[in-house]
Amino acid sequence: MEGLQAYSAPLEGRRGLLRLDFNENTVGPSPKVVEAIRAIPADHYAIYPEYDGLREDVIAALVPPGTPGGAGLTPGHIGVFNGVDAAIHAVFQAYGAAGDRLLTTSPTFGYYAPCARMQGMVIEALPHRLPGFAFPLEEIAAALLPDASGSVPRLLLLCNPNNPTGTRLAAADVLALAAGAPRTLVVVDELYEAFTGDSVLPPLLAEAAATGGDPFARHPNLLVLRSLSKTAGIAGLRIGFAIGAAPLVDRVSRVIGPYDVNSFAVTAARAALADQAYIDAYVAEVLRARDWLVARLRAAGVEHHLAGGNYLLLWPRRPAAEVEQELRAAGILVRSMAGKLQIDGSLRVSLGTREQMERFWAAYRQIEG
Ligand SMILES: Cc1ncc(COP(=O)(O)O)c(C=O)c1O
Repeated sequence: MEGLQAYSAPLEGRRGLLRLDFNENTVGPSPKVVEAIRAIPADHYAIYPEYDGLREDVIAALVPPGTPGGAGLTPGHIGVFNGVDAAIHAVFQAYGAAGDRLLTTSPTFGYYAPCARMQGMVIEALPHRLPGFAFPLEEIAAALLPDASGSVPRLLLLCNPNNPTGTRLAAADVLALAAGAPRTLVVVDELYEAFTGDSVLPPLLAEAAATGGDPFARHPNLLVLRSLSKTAGIAGLRIGFAIGAAPLVDRVSRVIGPYDVNSFAVTAARAALADQAYIDAYVAEVLRARDWLVARLRAAGVEHHLAGGNYLLLWPRRPAAEVEQELRAAGILVRSMAGKLQIDGSLRVSLGTREQMERFWAAYRQIEG
């Protein structure tokens, strides 16, 4: 434990500022979520949480209406965690032993590596392809093959789209990687899929609906992570989901406590899942605001990179740390990518509403001159 470094989680004192630093929903949840939370009677606070109906609600949100047999998704396919962070931690605890290999890309979401280190795993992080940060598909496929001693990576972590580069990987490629590596658990972190698509679930569910089978029958080594933090505006309540073959979900769920997800999160999640229109409208607003901001960046000649997700990278002409500080002084938080492979010197800016992007752009222009 002495050798472990704490994961650098969001700073304190972010309330009241324009938070473009952790890719959260920037406006808060649906009023229906707020109503549902307010309606919890105080005496219910005394009761341990109940999860009845939650998994069914997740299934209803994932499966297109009218799909025969719910596309074969059952509550056993859905794991519930205290945020996707907790799901990631649980995956490593359940599957990663000392000396096992984690295969992933770099730069990527910062919590995979500490979880691997906690288990004493060896980390193999392959760089994205420059220019453009394309996914290193051939390199990952090659690294999944057995090495000289016949061993394969225990875990492959794919962040799709990738945080922070936005790198997108087609669902068919994810499925092919998983099918070609039956001894590796392939985890696809789809936290940002709502903003740009590419999820593996639609093809799996469509096939299961057509054949009447289990959507994970041909992919027993694939686990999909989804959260409501980035779209539905309940990051502070902590709830996330892992979707995969029932034995896999069962094994990952065995390493968490019986009540790790609290009642407020359950109530909020069920209300949020029932109000897909709110999520869709937020995502549409973010995408419109993104187009607006990108047009300004292009016109002003600001070096930037954007692909999937609700964030983009930009490279200020002045030192990034100074620009970050000055934005903070103007009430706007962004995240410096200092020290990260390939993107050192850039800032990651989360995308919010058009009004928020206008505020960001006005401050940025003033700072950069
Ligand atoms: C790629 C990725 N995975 C997982 C998480 C954690 O999400 P949650 O709020 O569900 O724990 C984040 C949050 O920043 C993320 O960017």
